[in-house]
Order: sequence, then structure tokens, then C-alpha cells
Amino acid sequence: MTIGFTLNHENVTVQTAPDTRLIDLVRERFSLIGAKAGCLTGGCGACSVIFNRTVTKSCLIPAFRVQDSTIITLEGFAKTDAYKDIIKGFAAAGVVTCGYCDSGKILTMEAILTKKPRPSSRNEILAELRGIRCRCTEPESLVAAVLAIADIRQRRLYGRRA
Ligand code: FES
Ligand code: FES
Repeated sequence: MTIGFTLNHENVTVQTAPDTRLIDLVRERFSLIGAKAGCLTGGCGACSVIFNRTVTKSCLIPAFRVQDSTIITLEGFAKTDAYKDIIKGFAAAGVVTCGYCDSGKILTMEAILTKKPRPSSRNEILAELRGIRCRCTEPESLVAAVLAIADIRQRRLYGRRA
């Protein structure tokens, strides 16, 4: 089948089998390798993309569902100021990443802060991050990173903490 969709703000078309996974489409047909093929069963989050405005595990999305959708991969998100906030927040919180889970970790953190720019509860952040399996970073460090990113973003947007 031929499917058309928007990928990182560009209209694209591709011919593929209806059951091809979205993770394979973006990596193999568009050379966007920020999303990683990890567990391929929805458990690790390494394959995450923004699919129709929602962070989604692309290993669970067959090609036939991609028709007319809007997809942002880590590469597309990396061109934004919001991405720079996150990288600065990692540095401020002392989070060192190997990069493997970055799609899941970074896009999920962005979703957390979009929903609630000043998350106040550690448990709330941990609950939002539970779909991400990171082998390099303790959950507490990821919580510290989210709080640091929130501060950095508030300063960038408003010149102060909220
Ligand atoms: S590869 Fe998709 S959730 Fe692990
Ligand atoms: S930073 Fe290495 S797996 Fe998450």
C-alpha cells in the first residue's frame, strides 16, 4: 500500500506492507534512527515518537494506521527550543545518557511538562515515566532532571521561576 503522512513537518509518501511497524518505517525508509527498536513489544519506550500529538510507542503502530497522521521523531523535536531546555536540564541534574532511550525519555519529559509546566510531586513524575525503561539512569535522577528542565523553561519563557 502507499501511505501519505507528515513526518517532521514534511509531507511524505512511502510504499510498504500494511503491517510494517512504524519504527521500521522511520528508521529504514527515512533514516531517522533516534527511535530505537528495543523490546518491540511496547515495554521499553525506546521507539517513541509523537504520533498525532501524543507520545506513542512506534513498535505498536502498523503502517495502515499511519495514513494521514502527523509524526514527529526525536530528530524533528531536536530542532526546538524545548529540546534545548531538556538537554540543559540533564546537565543541571547530572544526568548522563547513552542515548539509547532518548526518544522515550525526552519525548515523555516534554509531554509531562506540556501537561503541567511546574510538576510538584515526585510520584506524579515517576508515574508518567513508568513506560520508559532506562538502563543507565536511576528514576530519582530522571525526576531531578524533569524539575530542572521545568526551572530552565520557566526562566527562558518568563525570565523567572513560576
Ligand atoms: S521497542 Fe517499542 S516499546 Fe520497546
Ligand atoms: S540513558 Fe542509556 S538506556 Fe537510558
